[in-house]
Amino acid sequence: MATAVVAAAGGGERLGAGVPKALVPLAGRPMVSWCLEALEASDGIEASVIAAPPGHEDELEGVARATLARLPFTIATGGSTRSESVANAIAVLEDWTELVIHDAARPLAAPALFDRCLERLGHWGCDGVVAAARSVDTIKEADAGGRVIGTLERGMLWAVQTPQVFQAGPLLKALTQGDLTRATDDAQLVEAVGGDIRVVEAPRHNLKVTTERDLKIAELLLADLRG
Ligand code: CTP
Ligand code: MG
Repeated sequence: MATAVVAAAGGGERLGAGVPKALVPLAGRPMVSWCLEALEASDGIEASVIAAPPGHEDELEGVARATLARLPFTIATGGSTRSESVANAIAVLEDWTELVIHDAARPLAAPALFDRCLERLGHWGCDGVVAAARSVDTIKEADAGGRVIGTLERGMLWAVQTPQVFQAGPLLKALTQGDLTRATDDAQLVEAVGGDIRVVEAPRHNLKVTTERDLKIAELLLADLRG
């Protein structure tokens, strides 16, 4: 059984709602409650830690208590970057072997996606797996002036999401040795110390809510997917 870390400590500057993004209402509930519900419904998760924005720990605790009926949770105080929030959450854990890291900003992740990532981690025996969608766009690399350097081979490109699931040893080594101020996901820290990371295909609709328009799209998708 795995432990979940929910990265919910961001300020949500680009959404600009005046409250941290995890607490912004989405389809009538604070955004973070959607992924908490999905984590609780997943078969392979037995405990959770939520990284809260500094000063908002009590509000996050209230949301978790109102959402979770069975899944035990702990609140940790987040850091100034996402990776530091993840590291702070891990620091409150005493005993774990597999970790499911998920962003509160991805409210559309289904319980089956968490389970599939955990199943693949065990099946492959690798250091970590990341949920990812095949790129549907052609991706070009360009210099600072916008001049195209080249076109990447689309068949090999994946848009990486969360959940990201890891074995304890490689993740702890990566968090100790990596630059937590620069990483945009957890897997790249593990890759940087030579870790074996693999992709698990996930739906494109597992989107990250960044802007106000994303919030509207997520609301439509929730209505569509969850009836
Ligand atoms: N996150 C975190 N701790 C931070 C920064 C981000 O736990 N110091 C979390 C966010 O809560 C979110 C996820 O990491 O669930 C992805 O980050 P992002 O979408 O950038 O969210 P915010 O940082 O809140 O948004 P913004 O960058 O617009 O301020
Ligand atoms: Mg951010």
